[in-house]
Amino acid sequence: MNNIVTLLLVALIALLQIKQSFCSNQPLVLSYYEETCPMLEEIVNRQVKIAVLKEPRMAASLLRLHFHDCFVLGCDASVLLDDFEGVPSEKNAGPNVNSLRGFEVIDEIKYLVEDACPCTVSCADLLAIVARDAVTMSGGPKWNVYLGRRDSTKASLKGANKFIPAPNSSLETLIANFQAQGLNIQDLVALSGSHTIGKAKCRSFRQRIYDYNDSEETSYNNHHNDNEFLRVLESICPKSGRDDSLAPLDLMTPTRFDNHYFHNIKRGQGLLISDNVLLSEDVEGEIRDIVWEFASDEEKFFESFAYSMIKMGNIDVLTGYHGEIRKNCRFVNT
Ligand code: HEM
Ligand SMILES: *[C@@H]1O[C@H](CO)[C@@H](O)[C@H](O)[C@H]1NC(C)=O
Ligand SMILES: *[C@@H]1O[C@H](CO)[C@@H](O)[C@H](O)[C@H]1NC(C)=O
Repeated sequence: MNNIVTLLLVALIALLQIKQSFCSNQPLVLSYYEETCPMLEEIVNRQVKIAVLKEPRMAASLLRLHFHDCFVLGCDASVLLDDFEGVPSEKNAGPNVNSLRGFEVIDEIKYLVEDACPCTVSCADLLAIVARDAVTMSGGPKWNVYLGRRDSTKASLKGANKFIPAPNSSLETLIANFQAQGLNIQDLVALSGSHTIGKAKCRSFRQRIYDYNDSEETSYNNHHNDNEFLRVLESICPKSGRDDSLAPLDLMTPTRFDNHYFHNIKRGQGLLISDNVLLSEDVEGEIRDIVWEFASDEEKFFESFAYSMIKMGNIDVLTGYHGEIRKNCRFVNT
């Protein structure tokens, strides 16, 4: 009798394990393409270098693509899909339209990677490697990218509008947005440090110039610098018109990935409202400590940034038999 019960139990456990291996997603790994596409990282690295040498801002644009991918349906390259038969392209969502860029660089990389290893490497993995290379090439940290993501067969325009935070978000909203993706306050602060490179359009920071109080408590440093800072922004971005004119997110070192972003927000000189609220609305004081640490210790920022990028790169990934390896990053396979 006892033997039969034991036997049944063993069989049940074995069954459950088999079921689990079919249902649950495999974790990403470093060596995923080691056998099937050994040249992958070299190809990507070279192309990112070419694109960034041609235009330094491209590093920022490529980094942002990975963020906007991961926050909508997970890191599955849904952001790269064009409008096509029932796919409502995320490119037309508020935070992306007339703003997201770098798609041609991804196309070129995908073309070369398909040439070297056809039908093997996902567009989602490309975005993750490209984002890392873009950061490293701009003077930021280097980290190992975990791989094995697969590409979605759908996109979510509604999701892009819902999950990607707006530049005038309150701190509460930012925290909730990141929490919805499994990211905490430490991740929010570290990843916001991305705004040490790249540019924003006047429409993204107009409200910050003309309709936002840089309250006394937020500026810990020089006050007369604030006027000069605002005057520069006003000259780029008038009260109305010139919606598309650009300002660097980090005025001091606009193309260098460093910890200058944190010096900026300590002075209340973040370009976006979402940059400044990190401190101005930080009533608990928990963000203050992180910002001070990153501002005084760049190594610490780099370490945290790399850690949070890996975490972000893991959001709802498709692995195993889920999704597909897209041939063309702009369209699902037919
Ligand atoms: C915390 C919430 C965030 C908000 C509200 C936000 C918002 C924005 C906005 C409005 C722009 C300018 C877009 C334009 O005017 O065309 C921008 C640019 C940028 N964002 Fe963020 N962002 C956030 C977090 C992040 C994160 C997590 C990353 C990367 C991991 C990132 C990377 C970038 C980069 C690199 C740029 C410059 C892009 C370029 O020059 O093409 N941002 N962001
Ligand atoms: C943010 O800006 C949009 C328009 O760009 C506006 O409709 C909305 O009310 C603003 N939100 C806040 C919190 O100011
Ligand atoms: C700015 O501050 C003033 C005085 O402290 C206040 O009356 C006003 O409502 C604030 N404006 C905004 C947009 O927060």
